[in-house]
Amino acid sequence: MTDFAAKLARAAQAVDQEMDRLLPKGQELEHRLFDAMRYGVLGGGKRLRPFLVIAGGEIFDLDMTECLRVGAAVEFVHAYSLVHDDLPCMDDDDLRRGQPTVHVQFDQATAVLAGDALLTLAFEILADRETSPDPEVRMDLVAGLARAAGGHGMVGGQMLDLWAETNTLDEAGTARMQRLKTGAMIAFAGEAGGILARARPQQRQALRLFAHDLGLAFQITDDLLDVEGSSEQVGKATGKDAAAGKATIVAKLGIEGARNRATLLSRQAAAHLDHFGKKANSLRALCDFVLNRNN
Ligand code: IPE
Ligand code: IPE
Ligand code: MG
Ligand code: MG
Ligand code: MG
Repeated sequence: MTDFAAKLARAAQAVDQEMDRLLPKGQELEHRLFDAMRYGVLGGGKRLRPFLVIAGGEIFDLDMTECLRVGAAVEFVHAYSLVHDDLPCMDDDDLRRGQPTVHVQFDQATAVLAGDALLTLAFEILADRETSPDPEVRMDLVAGLARAAGGHGMVGGQMLDLWAETNTLDEAGTARMQRLKTGAMIAFAGEAGGILARARPQQRQALRLFAHDLGLAFQITDDLLDVEGSSEQVGKATGKDAAAGKATIVAKLGIEGARNRATLLSRQAAAHLDHFGKKANSLRALCDFVLNRNN
């Protein structure tokens, strides 16, 4: 295991512990909902977005507790987006992270509700004093995550992704759809350390731009894995995008073209970090990780 892979694994473990602590676990009558939330979140996942929060926080020597809480909140929104993305009315997938998807393991209504509850839990965490003693920081986090996740961010992108199954999106439109559905949430995760640290606007902007380009590269490598990867390796069904008529950069530029685009975006992402010197080494390593990932 490389040093970076070990670091990623340690961060993922810490995030998993924090998420376990923050998730509801009562035995009330509604415990089926809590079970589905836990199932949708724990047990797999690269935890890329929480890692971005933590590695961004390293630049400013931030307290780990605050980064873990924000990382958990972002991951809850991400997990909700996957639970809903897998529903029969969306991508209709049975396998996620090597396990049956939430609606298969439970049922569709429970999957919808588990997603809803994960989304709202994220904002409850960000609004809590334990996340930051500074109310302005908490407001910036809440507003930032809301913008990234909502109609002008992830949810808007998901709408376009579905629309493009039966309509045509050109290359620019496809890139815009990916910017919304994937780039916005990753950009927020990258900037979050800067928000917590009350960093200067130029520093926050550099982090946001870095993570934004990284997010675009990340969605292109997701699309490449759908074409080139096996289901055992990636933990979800593959070969589905072309069959569903999804708009992807691979469909527009071919495999080699898409790989070149991802490489360019990943280098461009790293260039936004020049400003931060050695303190951004973990974020730099993430640029290579995203390009070379196999799940
Ligand atoms: C999958 O995200 C959906 C995309 C936005 C590409 P990840 O590849 O981060 O999924 P997990 O969390 O590691 O399972
Ligand atoms: C999903 O993109 C992006 C989300 C916002 C959930 P995909 O539909 O390509 O993600 P996978 O391949 O199912 O993980
Ligand atoms: Mg989808
Ligand atoms: Mg999907
Ligand atoms: Mg995909």
